[in-house]
Amino acid sequence: MNTEPSVALFDRVLDAAREVRPDAVVGFGGGSPMDVAKVVAALHNGTQTLPDLLGIDLLEGRTTYLACLPTTAGTGSEVTPYAIFHDEAEQLKKGVVSSHIIPDAAYVDPDLTRTVPPGVTAATGMDALTHCVEAYVNRYAHPMVDMYALQGIRLISANLLKAVQAGDDLETRTAMSLGSLYGGMCLGPVNTGAVHALAYPLGGEFHVAHGVSNAVLLPHVATFNLPATPQRYTDIAVAMGVEPNATPNEIAELGIERIKSLSRQCGIPAGMEELDVPAEAIPRMAESAMKVTRLLRLNPREVTVSDAEAIYRSAY
Ligand SMILES: NC(=O)c1ccc[n+]([C@@H]2O[C@H](COP(=O)([O-])OP(=O)(O)OC[C@H]3O[C@@H](n4cnc5c(N)ncnc54)[C@H](O)[C@@H]3O)[C@@H](O)[C@H]2O)c1
Ligand SMILES: [Fe+2]
Repeated sequence: MNTEPSVALFDRVLDAAREVRPDAVVGFGGGSPMDVAKVVAALHNGTQTLPDLLGIDLLEGRTTYLACLPTTAGTGSEVTPYAIFHDEAEQLKKGVVSSHIIPDAAYVDPDLTRTVPPGVTAATGMDALTHCVEAYVNRYAHPMVDMYALQGIRLISANLLKAVQAGDDLETRTAMSLGSLYGGMCLGPVNTGAVHALAYPLGGEFHVAHGVSNAVLLPHVATFNLPATPQRYTDIAVAMGVEPNATPNEIAELGIERIKSLSRQCGIPAGMEELDVPAEAIPRMAESAMKVTRLLRLNPREVTVSDAEAIYRSAY
């Protein structure tokens, strides 16, 4: 699969699955094929359609066994209750949220990720880092989930550049797969926030890869959120290796700089301009991001439409 899944593409896969009538469904690949497999397993023997499910808890159930094997270290979809699809009509990415699509088994084998090219390694790794960061600063952060989030941040920040530069190194890939899994474990109970909400219009309208959208926005949302939860960003900076010998605010800001430089060193563009997103699109993207209320309400600081515009402009 070469693109993140659309509703139309999903329908084609579902039609094929309805002919096969599988006893079990296995999702093998990055987040895109895993998300498709998760919903196919639930819908192939039922009457609901994907548009019926875009939202929270709208899926009636699932009776077919479902296993997932991730081949990227990124989404953590193998353990989450989410599946994300591109709604072409609204040019926005939308989620199915249901405990019925949590796979029955997840086989996380880092060996499967050794062939991921550097660009995809970078983008998917930054997605995993974003899951951990957004869960840790979340309005609904939880002490048990914090442990996964911080350990994910430690593993990813220490190994991502190496995974990009020396993708065949199994020890590095193992650390990244574990970091991605930990990020996924944060998503069900706590989930993400404004980075993901603002990333969806970039993916929906301009087809920027999910991880790249997140990577570009993450430091700018962090700067916006910092006054709301300074201690949390200080902890993140320390988990990323910043020496704790300055004021908490200085440490937090050094952490944000470290996120930016990690992303740049991995070859991810610094801003939206480099991604060929026209500046005129910013007001419309801000309006569109406001619709992602399921994530915005989790962000530690309220985001208004003018805040969203300002964040996009700072990330331009
Ligand atoms: N369900 C969830 O909880 C969740 C969480 C975050 C993101 N997502 C969604 O997941 C999708 C992104 O998934 P992704 O970032 O894993 O990327 P992806 O699945 O779109 O894959 C990206 C590219 O990497 C290639 N690839 C994958 N594994 C490879 C391997 N081992 N070797 C070589 N090439 C390989 C694919 O063919 C594809 O071209 C987005 O739609 C995003 O919104 C879902
Ligand atoms: Fe994500």
